[in-house]
Amino acid sequence: MSTSAGQESPPVKLGVLISGEGTNLQAIIDAVEHSELKADIRVVISNKPGVGGLERARRRGIPSKVISHRGKSREQFDSELVAALRSHEVELVACAGFTRLLSPVMVRAFPYRIMNIHPALCPAFPGTGAQRAAADYGVRFSGCTVFFVTEGVDDGPIIIQAVVPVNPEDDAAAVAERILLQEHRIYPEAIRLYQQGRLEVRGRKVLVPGMGSPADEVLINPPLK
Ligand code: GRF
Repeated sequence: MSTSAGQESPPVKLGVLISGEGTNLQAIIDAVEHSELKADIRVVISNKPGVGGLERARRRGIPSKVISHRGKSREQFDSELVAALRSHEVELVACAGFTRLLSPVMVRAFPYRIMNIHPALCPAFPGTGAQRAAADYGVRFSGCTVFFVTEGVDDGPIIIQAVVPVNPEDDAAAVAERILLQEHRIYPEAIRLYQQGRLEVRGRKVLVPGMGSPADEVLINPPLK
């Protein structure tokens, strides 16, 4: 399956799901405003009221909505999400710091049209607390992953990843901060590749024809002397 139709295709109609501060949302907004990304952010939806991301949307005049998950089944909540996204003619959904696990109701309504970002190198450290788990485990590299959401937890086909070094003296906050900077770079890029029709899902893999790879850039931590 390949996504949409080439560089000159129209801006992708985007719906962004948030639950918190919304710094990834801000990175997407900034990329659009700097003409680095052709996207029309149709709506920002939060499952929590009063969060920073809603204020960021309000400041940019982007329609926003709170749909609470409280007292609802996952399916009921997702049905409301689907209805709201469809009412804004959303083509692509970007989960950005969204903490609800999506059910098949949502995933089947937008097949390979829901992206999420995870602050670890999937499949390592799925779920919450990934940055602390990586720091405590003592890995020498961690990073972040943008993937297509499927019915599993943080295990969908991977679109793009960024790697950052982790050092024994780093605490969870230092690792999280280092990873977040890269999140803000790769998320707009993943959406840009989608908008340009350059993502091809083949089984578990996402092909990006003509993208090349950083094959010769090997990172070693600690660096060889
Ligand atoms: C980010 O690290 C993201 O990967 C994770 O939640 C964090 C908060 O993101 N899912 P944001 O600042 O709300 O975009």
